[in-house]
Amino acid sequence: MENFIFQNPTKLIFGKGQIEQLQKEVPQYGKRVLLVYGGGSIKRNGLYEEVLEQLKVLGVEVFELAGVEPNPRLTTVHKGVEICKNENIEFILAVGGGSVLDCTKAIAAGALYEGDTWDIVTRKHLPTEALPFGTVLTLAATGSEMNSGSVITNWETKEKYGWGSPLVFPKFSILDPVNTFSVPKDHTVYGVVDMMTHVFEQYFHPTTNTPLQERMCEAVLLTVIEAAPRLLEDLENYELRETILYSGTIALNGFLQMGARGDWASHNIEHAVSAVYDIPHAGGLAIIYPQWLRHVKDIGLRKLNQLAIRVWNVDPTNKTEEEIAEEGIEILEQFWQSLGAPSRLKDYQIDDTNIDLMAEKAMARGVFGNFKSLEKQDVVEILTKSL
Ligand code: NZQ
Ligand code: ZN
Repeated sequence: MENFIFQNPTKLIFGKGQIEQLQKEVPQYGKRVLLVYGGGSIKRNGLYEEVLEQLKVLGVEVFELAGVEPNPRLTTVHKGVEICKNENIEFILAVGGGSVLDCTKAIAAGALYEGDTWDIVTRKHLPTEALPFGTVLTLAATGSEMNSGSVITNWETKEKYGWGSPLVFPKFSILDPVNTFSVPKDHTVYGVVDMMTHVFEQYFHPTTNTPLQERMCEAVLLTVIEAAPRLLEDLENYELRETILYSGTIALNGFLQMGARGDWASHNIEHAVSAVYDIPHAGGLAIIYPQWLRHVKDIGLRKLNQLAIRVWNVDPTNKTEEEIAEEGIEILEQFWQSLGAPSRLKDYQIDDTNIDLMAEKAMARGVFGNFKSLEKQDVVEILTKSL
């Protein structure tokens, strides 16, 4: 293992009816609250009214930023920052999926910075303070509810970057599985693919002696693989929503990456793809990730074999390590396809026209990939195999 310090300050409030905890949490942070949400799902499922009712009892003054896009855009972050500055906002409440949460993180840091929030996203400026914020999560996927990361798209320049700061851990996150009942099938699938890929990203790293971390990763994968197909047949099943919601948080709240730094190259490549084509993040991952696995097969045989045998139940008898690894990758592809995830870039009408451009964008911050360091030619190869 590598030396590590672990600290995650987010208070996780999990379970049915926990929205009432807003009564205890919000007053600690102020009376002027900015409510941030997306394109209307919370109005359709009644959560918007529930949240407003809670806030009304507290007598706080509520301002609103609606319309945060999936793959949240800098222009929307700017709107939120302006409201915070003009209205002396003291606390932000994000109600939505990862996009709403990520947008809120950028607003929280941007509100206390004089320059353009894009400086923070591009890591030109390191934030020194941020407004406090809490979240009510409505979609199991990103782990943003309990981590300090955020991904923002500058649609004008076609750039999408992740950034993070210890200052943007949510103060609290309320996770009620009931609030995820209305997530449609396609986004439920994307969520499952995203959380599984987060686990894979952390499974592949160059550090030795991480047996517990590996088994913890495998436990999350086995749990999701068991629950996901059943959930897709029964979208309002409380226990299955609960299992998937908790899995999504554990997959990316730092628990799995103590003592080792994951690879994350596939996420970087996917962000470049969705910067150019605005496709769902996990749709891109479902296509790219298996090709990344093949690309690193030569140096990843031990882990690929372990995954194939322990997670995918591949029978290793009379097979070479190569064959076992490939069988595991094929089962992963079949599993995602059986859920309804895309498998080729052409599923999003993406051809080879912009492969070079996407590879350029993926390289914007230099070579990347902690398990296998990738250069532009590697990215071109992975994207070409994904067509
Ligand atoms: O906008 P609304 O109307 O709310 O609809 C959303 C959106 O259309 C809908 N939705 C959310 N909750 C719902 C619901 N529909 C019905 N019922 C509900 N309860 O689902 C759609 C997708 O929402 P979005 O927030 O975009 O999805 P997700 O949570 O997958 O977030 C994706 C974003 O997170 C970034 C991605 O790049 C992408 O921009 N990521 C953030 C990470 C992080 N902060 O740690 C890590 C991830 O790897 C990822 O990169
Ligand atoms: Zn992701």
